[in-house]
Amino acid sequence: MTPGEPLVLGIETSCDETGVGIVRGTTLLADAVASSVDEHARFGGVVPEIASRAHVAAMVPTLERACADAGVALADVDAVAVTAGPGLAGALLVGSSAAQALSWSLNKPLYGVNHLAAHVAVDRLEHGPLPQPAIALLVSGGHTSLLLVDDVTAEIEPLGSTLDDAAGEAFDKVARLLGLPFPGGPQVDRVAVGGDATAIRFPRGLTLPKDLVRHRHDFSFSGLKTSVARWVQARQEAGETIDVADVAASFQEAVVDVLVTKSLAACRDTGVDHLLIGGGVAANSRLRALAAQRCEAAGVALRVPRPGLCTDNGAMVAALGSAMVAAGVPPSPLGIAVDSSAPVTDVSVG
Ligand code: KG4
Ligand code: ZN
Repeated sequence: MTPGEPLVLGIETSCDETGVGIVRGTTLLADAVASSVDEHARFGGVVPEIASRAHVAAMVPTLERACADAGVALADVDAVAVTAGPGLAGALLVGSSAAQALSWSLNKPLYGVNHLAAHVAVDRLEHGPLPQPAIALLVSGGHTSLLLVDDVTAEIEPLGSTLDDAAGEAFDKVARLLGLPFPGGPQVDRVAVGGDATAIRFPRGLTLPKDLVRHRHDFSFSGLKTSVARWVQARQEAGETIDVADVAASFQEAVVDVLVTKSLAACRDTGVDHLLIGGGVAANSRLRALAAQRCEAAGVALRVPRPGLCTDNGAMVAALGSAMVAAGVPPSPLGIAVDSSAPVTDVSVG
């Protein structure tokens, strides 16, 4: 840590995690997260109203915990960053209101930032400044994209994205089908460890030669999800027992295979030899292992933050905010508007 680098506080409330992170430069000082996931579990998905109310209840305690963990006082903070989109509108409003109150009362600049860019920027905290340029594979519950990132504070060029379900959404839906609790991604990951990934050959979406022309860098997971549903239903109707571990492992392999294959194709097509993976699904153990193996074979340098920094947190927002401060990006006006469907190209939101 360089003394004198700005101390940036980041707030994340776009979905069901209330996150407050504190960084100085690229050094992570605190990463406090309170999750309302248990309150949504019985509904099988995130309920926006419940998430918003949980953010209101968790905001001040999480803020206090982050300051205590970092050993700093709010008065020491040099800038405040907050996720202003994309995400659930009511949930985003809680974080942006808190951030605006802090910015105003501390008289410090405010940065409304893009959640998706923050998923990419967080790796600064673990592996230092981002390679320029890099191909970023962004895989979360709501988004799946391949991006050409030159400067994460300014230039993100989308190369492709999912035409239907996000990768995380596919994990969550297949988990539900297999009777695993919400959120399903970590459950499928856990169960798949004991399964045979070659047991069932599930389809790899948008990988046929004709797809590789029109949708070379795009993804599709809804056909895979339907294929798993049909496979399970056929076995159930025949009265056969289903080996959940084999189905989970085979499904996971189909998702991960496509993600890694398309990421490396994007690296080849653009001549970029750095791949960065971010978002909740980047916590997946099989994705991390296969990406490491295939990147090494292809001579591509791989960067993936540790699992705790892949899923939603405030540190990623602070990491992007601190990069924006360092790059001299102008702060947002007080009174930022949240944008629930902010495109990944808008690094500053609101
Ligand atoms: O980035 P994130 O925390 O929130 C969004 O911005 O959406 O991503 C959440 C998604 C969920 O769909 C969750 O099931 C998935 O990431 N996920 C995983 C794993 N951990 C979280 N998917 C597969 N394997 C995991 N280990
Ligand atoms: Zn996220």
